[in-house]
Amino acid sequence: MKTWISITFVCALILSVFSGCSTTAKSEDQTITMRLAHNQSETHPVHKSLVEFARLVEKETNGTVKIKLYPNGQLGSEREVIELTQTGAVDFAKVSASALESFSPVYSLFSLPYLFDSRDQFYKVMNSSIVQDIYKTTTDVGFRGLTFYDAGTRNFYTKHKAIMKPEDLKGLKIRVQPSATSIKMIELMGGSPTPMSFGEVYTALQQGVIDGTENNETALTDNNHGQVAKQYSYSEHAIVPDILIMNNKKWEKLSKEQKQAITEAAKESTAFHKVVWEKAIDKATKEAKTKMNVTFNKPDKEPFKKAVEPLHKEFAKKKATARYYKEIRAEGTGN
Ligand code: GCU
Repeated sequence: MKTWISITFVCALILSVFSGCSTTAKSEDQTITMRLAHNQSETHPVHKSLVEFARLVEKETNGTVKIKLYPNGQLGSEREVIELTQTGAVDFAKVSASALESFSPVYSLFSLPYLFDSRDQFYKVMNSSIVQDIYKTTTDVGFRGLTFYDAGTRNFYTKHKAIMKPEDLKGLKIRVQPSATSIKMIELMGGSPTPMSFGEVYTALQQGVIDGTENNETALTDNNHGQVAKQYSYSEHAIVPDILIMNNKKWEKLSKEQKQAITEAAKESTAFHKVVWEKAIDKATKEAKTKMNVTFNKPDKEPFKKAVEPLHKEFAKKKATARYYKEIRAEGTGN
């Protein structure tokens, strides 16, 4: 049922764009209504922060720009909504930086395991001109980055086996995001990478198509992965931000004041999210422990870091990443 609704919806969106009668065109009262798609539920912290973004945009543009949210992956997987944002069938999408890797190679940086040594370093880099430059690398493929949202630290979790060292991944099918860097990470650590979109992970875990995956703690509760996966290990191998992207033609058509209002609202929603996120992680961890019987393990991170050293060497040399890689690493503690 849900699939049919989505298909009908997406077809309607595509038709509206190609027939030139997009509902996003300015109406007589000069109100523009834009669409924002993402793959989390309405109870997830990022949804709340996007609601805040929409509220601020409407307020700061004096009601001339309204944003309607389409959560739950109802308009498609992250890859699909990025494509819809490229054509303008969707105006905004919130996606993982990992999903952007195949649209602009510089985004692969964020999937590089142990790129950041700490959350402080992560925030410092994300608020720097490096990331402002990265946001603009996709304007020639139809969209631009506006801001980021904290999506926590990614850790391994499996149905039964606690991952305490890279060797524990041997023989296990581990779901990763569809990102070449994430696939290489699992290979180097010794597991079998299985890329798939987020919406398929719960069923894949349940049916044994995969043995485990990696994500932040909200995936255990908000996406119910903790019902099936009972061993969560703080490998802390990646801090991958979520990115808010916008169709570039729609951006160019906005007035100077509207652009400024959207930029400001994006920035404020990121600050709002930081607070909401920290609370959500605490809540998810407690809930997973007490209501879902998930065990939380603390492995030594060094062997995991060592396993992915070849990837760091590659990123320090690759044209798309070398400069930023060095700048970001220089901000770290070297631990
Ligand atoms: C995080 C991220 C999502 C992404 C998901 C994934 O939850 O916030 O945007 O889809 O990871 O692993 O695919």
